Amino acid sequence: MSRLGLIAALRPELAAVLDRMPDERRQVIAGREYWSGHWHGHELVAVLSRIGKVAAATTATALIERFAVDQVVFTGVAGGLAPGVAVGDVVVASELLQHDLDVSPLFPRYEVPLIGLSRFSADATLSQALASACRSALVSPLETLGREATVEFNLHTPRVHQGLIVSGDRFVATSAESRVLRDALPDALAVEMEGAAVAQVCHDYGVPFAALRTISDRADDAAHVDFQRFIDQVASRYSAAVLEAYFSSLA
Ligand code: ADE
Repeated sequence: MSRLGLIAALRPELAAVLDRMPDERRQVIAGREYWSGHWHGHELVAVLSRIGKVAAATTATALIERFAVDQVVFTGVAGGLAPGVAVGDVVVASELLQHDLDVSPLFPRYEVPLIGLSRFSADATLSQALASACRSALVSPLETLGREATVEFNLHTPRVHQGLIVSGDRFVATSAESRVLRDALPDALAVEMEGAAVAQVCHDYGVPFAALRTISDRADDAAHVDFQRFIDQVASRYSAAVLEAYFSSLA
């Protein structure tokens, strides 16, 4: 049986998941709390990485080395970059890239030196299964979240996008900065701060990886508004609903 490692950056992003793990056992490694347990009979190790690429890479490394997970999923929130990627939508990564990595002129911009890759592919099978779980679990925000959050965040049935997610050690909170990113990487759907780092660790270890992000903002001048409340009220519950659907689909 496979053992899934589930990473989120912030505690509220995992709160709804931990509520559903009846038998979790907590272990602290390098300051991170790892919860091992079962969900629908499947082995799961859930952990909070904290924010940023180094924090995420450290966490992913321990998850693989110490807990022998054989696949890794990152869940949380991201800022929408591409037109049509709206607040409340979900993006499942097909590829991930570090937008702040630049060792030019020694290596092409974005390329991870000595690996020869700038884009890390997400595992296609795992990503398709998560995208299907999103489509079946998130049909009605009203059902998943209740009226208050649906009205407050003006949510519609989430669209599920699949494509490039870019990561960097910056919270993108100005329209000018997101325009620069869009111009440099026109196919980027969303921006966050951890995914591509975990993708690189998983690539090095040969462990299948997928990332699933709820869009909390448009990476513009209003990006910080209601950020925490959106995670609590929307993203955390979306993650739990999608994983619930994913694990039930495995039977
Ligand atoms: N995560 C959620 N929104 C983000 C943004 N605007 N920039 C970086 N990471 C994010």
